[in-house]
Amino acid sequence: MLGKKVPAVTFRTRVRDEAVGGPNPYRWQDLTSDDYFKGKKVVLFSLPGAFTPTCSTYQLPDFEKLTPEFRALGIDEIYCLSVNDAFVMNAWAKGQNLENVKVIPDGSGEFTRKMGMLVAKDNLGFGMRSWRYAAIVNDGVVEQWFEEEGYSDNCESDPYGVSSPQNILENLKARIAA
Ligand code: BEZ
Repeated sequence: MLGKKVPAVTFRTRVRDEAVGGPNPYRWQDLTSDDYFKGKKVVLFSLPGAFTPTCSTYQLPDFEKLTPEFRALGIDEIYCLSVNDAFVMNAWAKGQNLENVKVIPDGSGEFTRKMGMLVAKDNLGFGMRSWRYAAIVNDGVVEQWFEEEGYSDNCESDPYGVSSPQNILENLKARIAA
């Protein structure tokens, strides 16, 4: 993916809008890849599922905590993407008290498939999900790529290391120092 443009897709998000009224004032809002990536330098990290243990205990909260360090290195936004729908992603973001990281619902898996990162997780009853990876995306172009080893369908393990915020920060700092 290095040097390639992220796929152009439309994400179906749900946003709070008091004008909707009632006990559940949310509405659909379609956001495109351009809305998320155009004119910004971002970290995108993608994982196998909202609420799963490694993602909920380490990867997402660590990105949230380390956001100021990323911003100091010129990162405008940090996006957490998963092949889950907007309701699930919003509930996960709420449960994690996110203030910095923004979640992207890739419910149909279109973005993940076009990134070449869609894998079967039928062994866990998950269906098709994202392999764990992260990227620095600058104005829609992948500048740095952090893919966990062993990309495969129905993988027995869930490698986590290169796509950690700590590893990405180290790489960003090394690039700046070079
Ligand atoms: C985890 O993040 O811990 C996890 C991810 C996928 C399947 C099971 C667990």
